[in-house]
This record gives sequence, C-alpha cells and structure tokens, in this order.
Amino acid sequence: MMVYLNGNLIDEKTAHIGFDDRGFLFADGVYEVIHIYSRKFFEWDRHMARLQRSMAGINLSEVDMHALSKGAEALLEDFDGEEGILYLEITRGVHPRSHAFPPPEVRPTILMWVRSHQPFSTDAITQGVSVITVADDRWAKVWIKTIGLLPNVLAKEKAHKMGVYDAVFVRDGMVMEATSANIFIVRRGILRTAPVTNYILPGITREVALEIAKEQGIAIALEPFSVEDMYSAEEIFLTGTTTEILPVTQVDGRTVGKKAGAVTLLLLDALRAKAYAVS
Ligand code: PDD
Repeated sequence: MMVYLNGNLIDEKTAHIGFDDRGFLFADGVYEVIHIYSRKFFEWDRHMARLQRSMAGINLSEVDMHALSKGAEALLEDFDGEEGILYLEITRGVHPRSHAFPPPEVRPTILMWVRSHQPFSTDAITQGVSVITVADDRWAKVWIKTIGLLPNVLAKEKAHKMGVYDAVFVRDGMVMEATSANIFIVRRGILRTAPVTNYILPGITREVALEIAKEQGIAIALEPFSVEDMYSAEEIFLTGTTTEILPVTQVDGRTVGKKAGAVTLLLLDALRAKAYAVS
C-alpha cells in the first residue's frame, strides 16, 4: 500500500515517523476521516474547512492545501477499491521533547492513507445497535478534531466490555455525542441533536443529515436533549463518516424506539443517494 508522507507518495514499508514526533509524544496534532463512495471523496471541501479550523484551534502553522488535495487524489488513483476511507493526520512535527512549540522551521508531519471500508450490513441496520451512556470527561475543546482521543478510546472499550456497540457522552445530564459519531433522536416527531458548541465535534455527516431533513420538511430542534429524552425517544441514530446513519435500539440496557425507524431510514437512503450520485 502507498501512503502519503510529507509530500511524497511512498510504500508504507518505507514510511517512518521519528519517535520525537509531537503526535507520538503529546498527541499534538489533528486529523480528518473522509468517506470514499464510488471512488470519490464525500464532502471534501467541508472536511478541509474543518481541518483548517482544527489547525487554527491548536495554532498549527498552515500547510499547502493544494498539495494536500493533489496527494489525496494520487492515493485515490492508487486505491483499487470502490468504497473506502482516507485518513489524514497533521502533527506539529519532529523535535526533541519539550512542551513548548518547536521553532518555526520545524514543519508539520503530514500523513495520509486510503483503505477500504465496509459499510454496516443490512442486518445491523435493521436490528440497530446498543449503546451505554458515560460521563463526558473530555476537555472543553471537543470541537477541535485532535488526535488526543484517549477518553473516546476508553469509553468505546467500556462499551465493548459490556457487549454493546458504543458509548454516548453525557455532560450535565445532556447527551453530547458518541465516541466517533454524533447522535440524533426523534421524539414527539421532532428530530433533535445537540447544537454545535465547543462540547461536540461538528460532524459533516450530522450537517448533511440536517440538510436532508430540512429538505424533507422534517421538524428539527437543535437544542440539547437529556438522557431521559433519549430513553423515551421514538428513534435514535448515530451519524458519522464511517458510521453513516446507524439506528440505535438499546440504551443502558433498555429497549428504546423502533427498530430502524422511518426518519432514520429515510435519512440513510437520502445520504447514500447523495453520496453515490455522479457529480
Ligand atoms: N470520527 N464526533 C466524534 C467525536 C467523532 O470522532 C466523529 C468522527 C464524529 C462524526 O463526524 P463526521 O460526520 O464528520 O465523520 C462525531 C471519525 C470518523 C473517526 O474518528 O474515525
């Protein structure tokens, strides 16, 4: 497999990153994950805009965005599948360990790769998945897509140990998002998801789902909702680049909502139609 590292497309076997890389030492970096449908990047521009916001959020110096998209295109050309993901990570570069930023001549490390990705089976979609709620112990800048994902990793592992698919972060009784996806409910016919604040990652799939819902005339409330609201919802689903739109049918051991509700399925169908549409 070829990877993109610091401007070069090289074989993964020859791709090395120094042990003094600040991504490795401090999780001092940001990332994006982009879905490839029918050999096309889904919502490339929005991902790049978010990447630039994340970089600004950690005072990372600007990188050549044109070179980045050329590199991504080259990786796509090398990819022999139809559906996959592009992973992109930018760290503050390699410099002997010291908390303070390295001098400006130290350039960011840029890594990208493309791998195939399997969408959820129809069975998983019709059955829905189970989640648990966990206290949101993340920092106050969740909107930055940083590679510092330890709270997410620990929450996901807790869910897996309990035999469920994912964990949902709850802050002051309000539902924020899952470990690598946003979360929506339909309650009393109204589609709800947490508003964009510094406490959620503003998901691209979340944005697209909201746009589709608006087009379809579905009532939307961008207001925080509580765990109790979620327990008494008609439908619950997750949204994300790898998750797409995934029904949730159990929360904290309680069966909640309908199996793959009507709004959930409508949004999933419309998302896929949009994603596979020839541009
Ligand atoms: N995660 N919230 C969190 C915490 C996420 O990590 C992600 C994405 C999302 C959904 O965002 P989007 O729709 O733009 O993918 C929400 C990626 C896929 C990951 O970490 O693998």
